[in-house]
Amino acid sequence: MRLITSLDDVHSLTLDLRRRGTTVSFVPTMGALHEGHLSLVRRAKSEGGALVVSIFVNPTQFGPSEDYSRYPRDLERDCEALARFEPDAIFAPGPADMYPDGFDTHIEPGNVAAKFEGALRPGHFRGVATVVVKLLNLVAPDVAYFGQKDFQQAAVLRRMIDDFNIGTRLMICPTVREHDGLALSSRNAYLSTEDRLAAPVLYRSLNRARELFHAGETRADVLAAAMRTILEAAPRAKVDYAAVVRPDTLEPAAQAAAGCVALVASRVGPARLIDNLILGPPGAPDEELIELAFEAPATSGGHTRP
Ligand code: PAJ
Repeated sequence: MRLITSLDDVHSLTLDLRRRGTTVSFVPTMGALHEGHLSLVRRAKSEGGALVVSIFVNPTQFGPSEDYSRYPRDLERDCEALARFEPDAIFAPGPADMYPDGFDTHIEPGNVAAKFEGALRPGHFRGVATVVVKLLNLVAPDVAYFGQKDFQQAAVLRRMIDDFNIGTRLMICPTVREHDGLALSSRNAYLSTEDRLAAPVLYRSLNRARELFHAGETRADVLAAAMRTILEAAPRAKVDYAAVVRPDTLEPAAQAAAGCVALVASRVGPARLIDNLILGPPGAPDEELIELAFEAPATSGGHTRP
């Protein structure tokens, strides 16, 4: 396992691997690794070929009043957590390597990035898209793994990869949760004991929407209202949004159908939490639901779900 900080070194390593006919799998992260991240690494590893994991707390995706400076960082612990997967490289560049003086070009994602997280965190997806393009150019992986947990991020990146004809396949992996349903997140570390008890309300609200959908309710506004009612009843939660939308454009879906996604975001104490569930047939495994949501062609306005 090599710890690489130089952009040139990671580029020549993966170039060499590809020349030898090895496929390259890539898991980009901001570190503070938990089982959610590790599920992506496990999946990438299971595909065979070479494995590269990046750890880079990307300054350009944090707003001025966000938690960039106090975002958890522990490279040594992360390397220990990754060791058992025997990655070919852990790529951990510094901010000045990724954004040297004079850096002046950004990717501006379109409509899919405008709402929800994009509206509440101006510039966030511009920063995500920019760093992901840079990472994909440096590593040039055959497949890159992302979590369903950040659904809008996955939708934005999918759109970008299609729009810019980037030759990397995107693999979206299911959300890993605590026993009470709370989605694992590096930001859960900000929750007090009391907030931690309240936090599973996001998952409860999503499950309510799913139950109603299974019972035949397809009006997206009714599903959204049901989620909001549950979130608002939690004393420590301050709802940012609750919606049921199309999975590719994140446009409102008047009638929810299989493959549509329920999205929620709420502050719980000092932490801002997001979560989602894809709607589909009762009992469908996560992988099947992800396929329903992400396998349709990502053409603008080309949503073809029933
Ligand atoms: P980060 O928040 O570190 O997440 C890295 C990857 O892990 C993302 O694809 C995210 O969706 C996934 N992930 C996080 N929690 C998860 C969970 N509970 N279950 C499954 N997957 C989970 O997302 C980012 O970093 C950054 O925006 C990045 C893409 C690296 C660009 O800077």
